[in-house]
Amino acid sequence: MAVLNVNIDHVATIRQARLTDEPDPVWAASQCELAGANGITVHLRQDRRHICDRDVRLLKETVACKLNLEMCMAESIVKIAEDIKPDQVTLVPEKRAELTTEGGLDCVRYKKRLADVVKRMHKNRILVSTFITPDEEQIIASAETGCDAVELHTGMYANARGKRAVNKRITELEAGKALAMENKLTVHAGHGLTYRNIAGVARINGFCEFNIGHSIIARAVFAGIGQATAEMIRLIDKFSK
Ligand code: PXP
Repeated sequence: MAVLNVNIDHVATIRQARLTDEPDPVWAASQCELAGANGITVHLRQDRRHICDRDVRLLKETVACKLNLEMCMAESIVKIAEDIKPDQVTLVPEKRAELTTEGGLDCVRYKKRLADVVKRMHKNRILVSTFITPDEEQIIASAETGCDAVELHTGMYANARGKRAVNKRITELEAGKALAMENKLTVHAGHGLTYRNIAGVARINGFCEFNIGHSIIARAVFAGIGQATAEMIRLIDKFSK
């Protein structure tokens, strides 16, 4: 059965809109956890546009479920992960101008750096996942560098329009998941997942974790973050085997 990690970056985005102290992502994390979330995901970006170092430190102290830190492989950020020691890091590419993470990490191009980061995370007992497109060479490079998991990018699935286009993306995700499992990787998925499109990926047997942010926080504005979390968990439970 797949589980849900709630990405709470947007809570920090609201706070940063006024450079004040509310809403606090630490409070959000506790509400998500009480509603049954398996984990809390935050992205500590180099420009600190939403989540700040203080958030990650406090979340490490307060989150009792899994703390998954999304991050790029820049040295300054890697050092923070070594210091704070989240349960898991998900390695992503990062561009300063992007609205959100675009595309997957190029594990082939950055294989040497990736192997080094994996070693350093493992020394600190931190699990490593790579956020990648469901391509064979990216999956193999993740396995060969010793990663524990891959998070398959579901953005292309989320953006697909029409039955044929959607089925094509599902087939790609299924094949990627199968290859990752053959290579002894745990398989996560995320990006662009919503209450409307979660069924298609939740039905794919073998995904262990879904990382979902925008859609849950958008619903939380009206329903509260606990209810929004619980509703997404209900859908994942309903459609995953
Ligand atoms: N997974 C990764 C690696 C991401 O970068 C993001 C966005 O921060 C998500 C999942 C969540 O995406 P969304 O906000 O579209 O649910």
